[in-house]
Amino acid sequence: MLNELLEKLNEISQMVEKDFAEAKNPADIEAAKVKFTGRNGSITALAPMMGKIAKEDKPAAGKAFNEVKALVAKCMEEAKDRLDDGTAGGEAVDVTLPGRKWTMGTQHPVSRTIDECCAIFRRMGFTVAAGPEIDTVANCFDKLNAPLDHPSRDPKDTFYFDDGRLMRTQTSTVQIRTMLDQKPPIRIVSPGRCFRRDTPDATHGVHFHQIEGLYVDKNVSLADLKSTLKAFANEFFGEGVSIRMRPHFFPFTEPSAECDFSCVMCGGKGCRVCKNSGWLEILGCGMVNPNVLRNVGIDPEEWQGFAFGMGIERLAMLKYRIGDLRLFSENDLRFLKQF
Ligand code: DAH
Repeated sequence: MLNELLEKLNEISQMVEKDFAEAKNPADIEAAKVKFTGRNGSITALAPMMGKIAKEDKPAAGKAFNEVKALVAKCMEEAKDRLDDGTAGGEAVDVTLPGRKWTMGTQHPVSRTIDECCAIFRRMGFTVAAGPEIDTVANCFDKLNAPLDHPSRDPKDTFYFDDGRLMRTQTSTVQIRTMLDQKPPIRIVSPGRCFRRDTPDATHGVHFHQIEGLYVDKNVSLADLKSTLKAFANEFFGEGVSIRMRPHFFPFTEPSAECDFSCVMCGGKGCRVCKNSGWLEILGCGMVNPNVLRNVGIDPEEWQGFAFGMGIERLAMLKYRIGDLRLFSENDLRFLKQF
């Protein structure tokens, strides 16, 4: 029995040497290894013979097994070294080639603008809050005091899910979420993506970014709102920028206003960008409507607040002189690498 085993192992040894010597690539090496020591390999298949070997012959048989396994390991190493040398035309390494250069990515202009805005408001004592892009009708419209016939609720303008939830049309949802979560005083800004059923063109997209601001405290006035916005305008666009507020309507603020910045392109003299008016429409704002405070369980007799919301892409387009909104989402590296 022992002789028979030794003979078989001897035959296998010769095949081991031959197969590994002829291996031309890593796949050949792997195949040879499986052929001999894999689950169905020829050496593995001989293992049961050990049981039939006489007791006194077992040490010799064990030694022969170990030798052939060691031979497999040795031949495999040699074959790998040979391929690494490049002599067999396998995966050669040319150490004279110049190294591959890893280039650093750049920040997307939208992310950069969000960071700049958040940094400015943080310095004024605001913290940054986040909310989900899918939200409820309650958070997006009802609690924000939007009348049932408000055009923004129309399915022609808003993406609804079958379960009644929607893709938020404004970051104002985070006002509600924050006030339901925290007790005043509250001072947050919340940047994020919004969605509307618009036909994409140079200034409209189905998704865009806004940054929302909310300040609820005792004795908050319109003067606080105006000075906060003026400070932001000067930090973001530069000292020379002035602001003006025009009466407007938003359901969640009373009084409401639109806030214009003096044109950052022409300094207010009048140009194509500001349509010769000298002013750029930048954001919506106002004093938080008492109904909104009541909707989230805050007593409007005790607390007042201001809120504002502005478009990030609009800010970025003006600051970085970008002419078309679509550039932000086209992923053209020639555009993105400039930031
Ligand atoms: N949510 C408004 C919009 O999408 C922007 C806005 C206006 C936000 C007034 C506010 C605000 O917080 O007070 O057009």
